[in-house]
Amino acid sequence: MQDPRLVSPAQAEDDAHYEAGLRPRRLDDYIGQDRVRENLQVSIEAAVQRGDALDHLLVYGPPGLGKTTLAYVIAHELGVPIRTTSGPVIEKPGDLAGILSNLQPREVLFIDEIHRMSPVIEEILYPAMEDFELDIVIGQGPGARSVKVPVERFTLVGATTRAGLLTAPLRARFGIVQRLDFYTVQDIEEIVRRSARILEVPMDNAAARELASRSRGTPRVANRLLRRVRDFAQVRANGRVTFEVAQAALHLLEVDAAGLDEVDRRLLLTVIDKFGGGPVGLNTLAAATSEEPDAIEDMHEPFLIQLGLIERTPRGRMATARAYAYFDQAMPGRGLF
Ligand SMILES: Nc1ncnc2c1ncn2[C@@H]1O[C@H](COP(=O)(O)OP(=O)(O)O)[C@@H](O)[C@H]1O
Ligand SMILES: [Mg+2]
Repeated sequence: MQDPRLVSPAQAEDDAHYEAGLRPRRLDDYIGQDRVRENLQVSIEAAVQRGDALDHLLVYGPPGLGKTTLAYVIAHELGVPIRTTSGPVIEKPGDLAGILSNLQPREVLFIDEIHRMSPVIEEILYPAMEDFELDIVIGQGPGARSVKVPVERFTLVGATTRAGLLTAPLRARFGIVQRLDFYTVQDIEEIVRRSARILEVPMDNAAARELASRSRGTPRVANRLLRRVRDFAQVRANGRVTFEVAQAALHLLEVDAAGLDEVDRRLLLTVIDKFGGGPVGLNTLAAATSEEPDAIEDMHEPFLIQLGLIERTPRGRMATARAYAYFDQAMPGRGLF
């Protein structure tokens, strides 16, 4: 999904090259997500000691929080190669069968956006995940027969922004399921400092903290803001990112103190002004703001929910008291008594 917003959690075209150099390779360099890291550390060590493949792992959470990074880190820690593909890319059952039958022992197979795999493809995956074999049908019509072909013991790492869209049988075949949460400001600050070090950007701690607090708890956004702030420091200052330089740059980029931008404000104001604070259904909200429902649900809204500005109810989205406060408005029906 392409999204031109500066604070979008989705990977923009020019992020890819830049991110490659900033990706942590070892579990120790993977900052934050302590619970996930500790769990994986134990599972990985146990698998290595046994000389066996790690259990299949499902990682889910909003975009930009480190799912792909984690897959690479895991392969690195296991000391095995990694093959990557994604749900929408696998078109024919033969594509996946080909990948599976060529895997090395204990190799990591990373399937991004695994919720977008078609049902026929999923069918191939089941016996491969469970029994490390493929059911291949040879021939057609009455003469067709099914043969079982073994595959190496491998680890499937599936990533998704929407665990809820996974079918129950697929989900049940993952031995380990981990959710990534938005990062704390402290963790993002550490990520910013690490990235600044790698990019050799001189930066004050107060500046790193300021940048972190506007990065929506999302490493991808933090690294992108860092890149823009670095440009600003180079052109408008002497290259050093001080607190003042960071503030001026972020002001120019129209990212506010909470990390919200114009799209967020428009979404919130639509719920407040056009729908009396809600509840308003996702599709109605999408139409009223000219956004895609998927983009709202996957990319814009999770952070607004995290901040407690929007609430998801069975009848639709509602603006919270905090959202009204953000715009210095009184919440209807509140405040008098
Ligand atoms: N835990 C982390 N520590 C340091 N940097 C991280 C971490 N998680 C993600 N990043 C950075 O954020 C970028 C985006 O992460 P990525 O794994 O591509 O997110 P996702 O796959 O969840 O969309 C990575 O290139 C990496 O530089
Ligand atoms: Mg990814």
